[in-house]
Amino acid sequence: MKKKLLSVLLTGAFVTSMLVGCGTSTETTDSGNGAANTTSESSTASNGTKVGVAMPTKDLQRWNQDGANMQKELEAAGYEVDLQYASNDVQTQVSQIENMINSGCNVLVVAAIEGSSLGEAMDMAAEKGIPVIAYDRLIMNTDAVSYYATFDNYKVGEVQGQYIIDQLDLENTDQTYTMEITAGDPGDNNAGFFYNGAMDLLKPYIEKGTLVVKSGQTEFAEVATPAWATETAQSRMETILSSNYANDDLNICLCSNDSTALGVENALAANYKGEYPIITGQDCDIENTKNMIAGKQSMSVFKDTRTLASQVVKMVGQIIKGETVDVNDTETYDNGKGVVPSYLCEPVFADKDNYKELLIDSEYYTEDQLK
Ligand code: BGC
Repeated sequence: MKKKLLSVLLTGAFVTSMLVGCGTSTETTDSGNGAANTTSESSTASNGTKVGVAMPTKDLQRWNQDGANMQKELEAAGYEVDLQYASNDVQTQVSQIENMINSGCNVLVVAAIEGSSLGEAMDMAAEKGIPVIAYDRLIMNTDAVSYYATFDNYKVGEVQGQYIIDQLDLENTDQTYTMEITAGDPGDNNAGFFYNGAMDLLKPYIEKGTLVVKSGQTEFAEVATPAWATETAQSRMETILSSNYANDDLNICLCSNDSTALGVENALAANYKGEYPIITGQDCDIENTKNMIAGKQSMSVFKDTRTLASQVVKMVGQIIKGETVDVNDTETYDNGKGVVPSYLCEPVFADKDNYKELLIDSEYYTEDQLK
């Protein structure tokens, strides 16, 4: 645990000292306040405070929703917003964050493309005393990150693993089942949490021989999917299917998220004649939810991006007002420099039986979007 107290000279309303939060031992932390160093003359409800929001890519549905929700809520709270997407290109994201800093953003909210590659931009934020909230993905090896807001990533994996156990009654069965694993991007700190959450539950069944991974690929490094790319997951699964499942059924595909599940579903559609497997996912992306309704994906994990955005907007407000910032986890997320105080939202299990209530009744999607 490491506390770093930065004295920051602010050019605006007041001088304050800021607790940059890599590590506190309580469930709540004192908030920093880098908010007043604005040169803006505009006087909105939040006194010209500008929030930079850096998102990874527009290619995946969820980040479009995250960005749109953040912008809407921040603007409704009276903040000016600089929202940027970086086409999954790390250097673009670094430049965007540096521009946000240079153009006077008072707080940064960053969903990193690669958690370990933002060092310089983070140093710059720290030098200027600008608080950073890591959004959904932890930013690694820097003490510039004040807070982290995400879903409980380990639990996401547990929900997927437990689903497989329950569906096949693995605790009581004498049968063996074949399984293949598709995990996420090694550059994304979340990917290991998803993998571990599921595998901590499933490994005992692999060791017992109840689950058989015919490809032999079980280690995270072997099953990871760089950039979470659908095409990469698809071509890997095509190879696995032709080498191992030409004559055998593949019973289970543990997929860490929906973009990788989609790749696996495409590979199965083109290359597989056996009985259709159980497939897990995460995010309830529209394509995957449609597949869930059509019986081509068994489940997904619903992470309501509206909840995360609201939480982060609340945290931004607390930081700016110098209030205690809401966190509910001060143990789990060590970014290499210390534990970052975190707020973990609850992920929720979704399948064809409850998607209407979860996704349509809550107005996350309209019925038409899922047709
Ligand atoms: C997010 C997932 C998402 C994945 C790919 C992860 O960091 O937590 O929700 O599916 O990135 O974008």
